[in-house]
Amino acid sequence: MATNQDKIKKLIDLRVQAKLGGGEKRIEAQHQKGKQTARERIEMLLDDGSFEEFDMFVTHRCNNFDMEKNKFLGDGVVTGQGTIDGRLVFVFAQDFTVFGGALSETMAQKICKVMDKAMIAGAPVIGLNDSGGARIQEGVTSLAGYAEIFQRNIMASGVIPQISAIFGPCAGGAVYSPALTDFIIMTEGTSYMFVTGPKVVKTVTGETISTDDLGGAGIHSSKSGVAHFRVDNEEDGIMVIRKLLSYLPSNNLEDAPVIPCTDPIDRLEDALNTIIPDSPNQPYNVLNVIESIVDYGEFLEVHRNYAKNIITGFCRMDGMPIGVIANQPNFLAGVLDIEASRKAARFVRFCDCFNIPILTLVDVPGFLPGSGQEYGGIIIHGAKLLFAYGEATVPKVTVTLRKSYGGAHDVMSCKQLRGDYNYAWPSAQIAVMGAQGAIEVLQGKELAKFQTEEEKAKFVQEKVAEYDEAFANPYQAAAFGYIDDVIEPRNTRFRVIRAFESLRTKKVVNPPKKHSNIPL
Ligand code: HXC
Repeated sequence: MATNQDKIKKLIDLRVQAKLGGGEKRIEAQHQKGKQTARERIEMLLDDGSFEEFDMFVTHRCNNFDMEKNKFLGDGVVTGQGTIDGRLVFVFAQDFTVFGGALSETMAQKICKVMDKAMIAGAPVIGLNDSGGARIQEGVTSLAGYAEIFQRNIMASGVIPQISAIFGPCAGGAVYSPALTDFIIMTEGTSYMFVTGPKVVKTVTGETISTDDLGGAGIHSSKSGVAHFRVDNEEDGIMVIRKLLSYLPSNNLEDAPVIPCTDPIDRLEDALNTIIPDSPNQPYNVLNVIESIVDYGEFLEVHRNYAKNIITGFCRMDGMPIGVIANQPNFLAGVLDIEASRKAARFVRFCDCFNIPILTLVDVPGFLPGSGQEYGGIIIHGAKLLFAYGEATVPKVTVTLRKSYGGAHDVMSCKQLRGDYNYAWPSAQIAVMGAQGAIEVLQGKELAKFQTEEEKAKFVQEKVAEYDEAFANPYQAAAFGYIDDVIEPRNTRFRVIRAFESLRTKKVVNPPKKHSNIPL
């Protein structure tokens, strides 16, 4: 009969066995591809010694294709809880060394368990993905497992933060779990995501395309917008997750975590008084504005390479996490197009879900004109951003730096969309459209009468000056109270912080409803 000592030894042996996943050879193969194992990733992610694993002894229950002879403790995913900067998180990491991390019925159950625990505790869930998709030997139970995960992703959305890192393959329907989460991080060169891979693409459409060109980190972080962060390696990916979480509350009932700030809140930034060029058509980098007004100049940009005409990201102001949305005059003049609208709308909604106040910096010449945009549904996509701002109940502070024209003025967190504090710099121009366009419309008949281009140009110049005098300033909007104050640029940090401070106790509740019908 086995003694208690024997039983303890058996436990220790089983743990050693489980920790080897698919075995040393496969671990070596994983390393040779420049990838870490599931356990190494979890170790990097969590605070030292904080990991508590669940379901280490789970094995699959499949008997097809002699699978009963081929079992690994843990069955292709490592799950558990731990802390990041002392705060509780739940994590699952697919183990590529076991059946290529392919999803079995039991593996899905492990992931669902960790998601359920995260919901009960009200703590973020982090998925580290590296999987060949549905476990082929299991057939439909694997598909059902995915759907169980999807359903939990949907229920957790807006309740706890969900973050997905893609550290290897993620193909077929498997892509939809990360897609349902809040943020996706992809590693350059070792990760990819697509609904159908290059071989199927070739068969169905005849197109020849590489894995990387179809669904690599570069494509998804710049062209499709599927990935919010592209990183060079897994270490950087893990750092992004940890940094991201530092700005987020653990759940939607908590406030975002405020930390003590030693950066003076009344720091004057003289450079801001000269940052706006005198010519309205000359660009500048709005990132410089953001970095000079936030705590320590630290800004975590989200979707850096996608829709560069609008900037989104997290910062702190007097220690409070703040979501920043800013038109970027340096790229496409900061115009709102389909991609920019979608990017910003998603970000606004994320901030609103998780009680993160929103700072909007406006310098927008309008919506991008043209058939390409109209056929692509700019009306619907622009409406997404409008809807997101109008629906958001978190504190909203808006600073108009320069242009704020037409529909884009309304969309970018104007007073009537429940902007709490709307400030403008003296360089602000708040109007239905730019002077040149306005003259074309208002003076069309007069312009047609001119015999020479010279006379015409002189006339336009006079009218532009007249129009600018009337509208190319913030004072008409301020006269109506649409702008609460015109502020000196160098004092922006202080004014914005003071506005957010006074909004700490803001309570606004939207009418009860099942859910809104945002234009999707
Ligand atoms: C079972 C799988 C598997 C899978 C890989 N493996 N994918 N086992 N089901 N889906 C196993 C391999 O047999 C191998 O086992 C080990 O994982 C490593 O795989 P390799 O092919 O040796 O690795 P690599 O060369 O790096 O290629 C990785 C890969 C490739 C690109 C992921 O394995 C592959 O194409 N797999 C199939 C992908 C796929 O078509 N999946 C279904 C997608 S459809 P050994 O024992 O040799 O180590 C789908 C539907 C989901 O997922 C729907 C949800 C709604």
